[in-house]
Amino acid sequence: MAERLLDVTGLTTTFRTGKKTSVTAVNNVTFSLDRGEILGLVGESGCGKSVTSLSIMGLFEDTAGKVASGSIVFDGEDLTKLTTKQMRSIRGKRISMIFQNPMSSLNSCMRVEAQLIEAIRLHNDVSKSEARQRASKMLSAVGIPDPEQTLRSYPHQLSGGMSQRVMIAMALCCEPEMMIADEPTTALDVTIQAQILELMKDIRSRNNTSILLITHDLGVVAEMCSRALVMYAGRIVEEASVEELFASPIHPYTVGLIASVPKLGSGVTSLPSIPGSVPDLSAMPQGCKFAPRCKYAQAVCRQTEPELAPVPGGNGRKCRCHLFGKEEGKEAQA
Ligand SMILES: Nc1ncnc2c1ncn2[C@@H]1O[C@H](COP(=O)(O)OP(=O)(O)OP(=O)(O)O)[C@@H](O)[C@H]1O
Ligand SMILES: [Mg+2]
Repeated sequence: MAERLLDVTGLTTTFRTGKKTSVTAVNNVTFSLDRGEILGLVGESGCGKSVTSLSIMGLFEDTAGKVASGSIVFDGEDLTKLTTKQMRSIRGKRISMIFQNPMSSLNSCMRVEAQLIEAIRLHNDVSKSEARQRASKMLSAVGIPDPEQTLRSYPHQLSGGMSQRVMIAMALCCEPEMMIADEPTTALDVTIQAQILELMKDIRSRNNTSILLITHDLGVVAEMCSRALVMYAGRIVEEASVEELFASPIHPYTVGLIASVPKLGSGVTSLPSIPGSVPDLSAMPQGCKFAPRCKYAQAVCRQTEPELAPVPGGNGRKCRCHLFGKEEGKEAQA
């Protein structure tokens, strides 16, 4: 029986836009993550993937963002109820994050050595030389061929792939139970991307680390995850095992996303993309947020927002659609 590590329930995150106005970037999001699981979170740009991860990490200090409601229960403790200080002792130690652009999270004025030692000593009562030894071990563990030389380098002296490895080493240096990887390989070329993904799989099997993998690349989801959440306009619109998601997507948005992934050897060069664009947060349509772009939309879709409901016989599968995924509904056609 899998052991639950994280339960996000009804998470709603807002950004203040004026004295009395705010926008809702993440709306009533509910999902869970088991120990050792790699869960995919996919969706177009602006759908709320990063805001979901920042909400879990409690990283809104310098912005107008806040968790307006909902709970984020990590190993039995609601992170939304913790003080800044308590949260600081969890962040980096029990939950760590890998960002899309390593350069933005490594300090360009500090050698790799100093940054890793600082990260290790922040959460562990060890001497500088012990921390340095651990840093060197971490760099080898993430496949850096010459850890000593890398330790002495400044971030700008490293290639993109190497700095991403340093970031992962930094994220791993306190052996976190959970990692949030937000587009961890988007900035890298294909070969390095494959190596970094392989490395993340290794880490998961060695340490039973749970990984929330955020990406807009469905190929990465197919390769890495057992289960995935599809987000649209701040909401989860479909949740399914990766096999089910690819074999029989239900939500018309998921159908569109999958149809726009090139199939190997298909010879197809231009792919259908979903017509229209993501709605503006300050002007959300009434009803289903996808209705303006949905070729199946009917009057009910424009009036009432559907719930994220279990799909009958769907083995934990869920879908937010009035027309599909229900017993009385018809199957979505790609
Ligand atoms: N600091 C902020 N202030 C106001 N709105 C914000 C802020 N950060 C994010 N948003 C809004 O929240 C919504 C969700 O953004 P988010 O960054 O989570 O998207 P995403 O799914 O991660 O997209 P991408 O694939 O481009 O990374 C967007 O409409 C964005 O404009
Ligand atoms: Mg993002």
